[in-house]
Amino acid sequence: MKSQAWLTSLALATTSLVSAQRPAHPEFVHGEECLFCHRNDIGASWQKNAHANTVREKPGSKDSFTLGARGGARELRKAGYGKFAIREADGSWNETKFGDRCAGCHTTAVDGESKTFQYYGIDCYACHGAVNLEHTNDTSLILLSKKQRSDARKIASICGSCHLRGGQSKAKGFPYPYHFVPGDDLFADFQVDLSKVDDPALNPGDRHVYRNVRDALAGSELSCLSCHSVHQNSSDKHRRVLTSNVCLDCHFESGPKKNVKKYQVSSATCEY
Ligand code: HEC
Ligand code: HEC
Ligand code: HEC
Ligand code: HEC
Ligand code: HEC
Ligand code: HEC
Repeated sequence: MKSQAWLTSLALATTSLVSAQRPAHPEFVHGEECLFCHRNDIGASWQKNAHANTVREKPGSKDSFTLGARGGARELRKAGYGKFAIREADGSWNETKFGDRCAGCHTTAVDGESKTFQYYGIDCYACHGAVNLEHTNDTSLILLSKKQRSDARKIASICGSCHLRGGQSKAKGFPYPYHFVPGDDLFADFQVDLSKVDDPALNPGDRHVYRNVRDALAGSELSCLSCHSVHQNSSDKHRRVLTSNVCLDCHFESGPKKNVKKYQVSSATCEY
């Protein structure tokens, strides 16, 4: 009896290890293959998407890269398989910082031991997960399809895996999640202090993310996708959402909605 109980607890321990702390990323289909079929619906806008371009090769160079798709740029250079060195403000190259502190949110499928990435930039896998190709017949098999985009908690885990800046992996201490796969419960390993919603020092850009995640975990049906269309790179539909506290992160309590509070996004995690 004793040994059986021990076996059961071992099995339980193993199960939670697999869901919260996988030993490695699963195999997944790379974006180029997806775009072979999704060239017309997704391809053209994807080339301009900030996620795809958050790390990109400098024209005419094989070793030099730019981090930051929307102006706040940093220089990177190749430093071995799946690794970049990052240039500091004083002009020196830091060989370890990118892997230790940045890679998990600006590249795809970072290995938690070697801290190497599989692809630079953010690939389909980071949001759609390890896609089953049977989805061509049954779109409910793929995350974020029209049939799979209403679960606000799941969406909070997916988008929050990068947009909750300030969180920390319990297992590894990284400022980014450890072997997170979309569909998982992010918060099994990634620890985030959601009470920061009420910290006046937080900028409205990060605050509205923290607020939405806190509300979604408490049962609200409002998700990032109630307001954002990722592939159309638009937040137009946010105008049609019912007014609540969320709106006050950017709008005033009274007066027309065309007035937006002036705010600047800054982040200690991202050093800007
Ligand atoms: C793997 C990390 C990652 C995931 C997952 C992720 N994002 Fe992002 N997102 C980023 C990064 C990094 C940027 C900034 C890119 C840049 O400008 O270099 C960004 C930028 C954005 C922007 C600003 C785009 C612009 O052009 O102004 C929005 C809006 C956004 N993300 C929403 C989402 C939503 C919604 C989800 C979930 C469906 C999501 N993101 C999932 C990392 C991620
Ligand atoms: C927890 C995930 C996460 C980590 C870790 C992270 N970033 Fe970011 N980074 C983001 C997200 C999300 C955005 C977009 C936020 C927004 O626009 O509101 C971003 C934006 C940026 C931008 C601005 C992009 C632009 O075009 O304006 C720069 C530059 C940047 N990060 C650099 C870094 C550096 C350098 C590191 C490591 C020292 C780092 N980041 C670590 C998630 C992360
Ligand atoms: C940053 C997260 C993110 C990344 C990365 C991403 N997607 Fe999406 N995708 C979404 C979201 C969210 C939706 C739901 C509709 C929307 O917001 O545009 C979606 C919807 C789709 C759809 C359905 C479109 C529709 O009309 O409903 C297809 C097809 C798709 N994505 C393919 C891809 C492919 C291919 C890639 C990689 C080249 C990719 N996605 C990368 C978040 C992402
Ligand atoms: C062999 C061709 C093929 C490949 C490869 C492929 N898809 Fe699809 N995908 C389809 C077809 C066909 C559909 C169903 C029709 C539609 O909605 O476009 C679909 C549907 C989708 C949907 C749901 C659209 C909806 O209507 O809700 C998403 C999201 C998606 N694919 C993403 C991806 C991603 C991400 C990859 C790569 C990991 C990928 N697909 C690879 C053919 C493909
Ligand atoms: C109630 C609607 C709403 C919800 C919910 C929402 N957003 Fe936003 N978000 C907006 C609007 C509106 C803007 C500002 C307009 C813009 O930049 O497109 C914005 C801006 C952003 C930006 C750009 C910040 C910057 O200026 O650099 C990012 C990144 C972002 N949202 C991510 C998310 C993520 C991730 C979630 C889910 C956790 C989310 N948002 C939930 C409405 C919303
Ligand atoms: C993260 C910041 C942010 C949040 C949160 C936000 N908004 Fe906005 N909103 C903006 C920005 C920026 C604009 C102007 C640009 C645009 O239209 O996207 C805007 C514009 C609007 C407009 C159009 C006003 C006009 O006359 O041009 C409406 C309506 C609106 N918001 C309603 C809402 C509602 C309702 C909520 C809450 C559910 C909300 N917003 C939450 C940033 C935000």
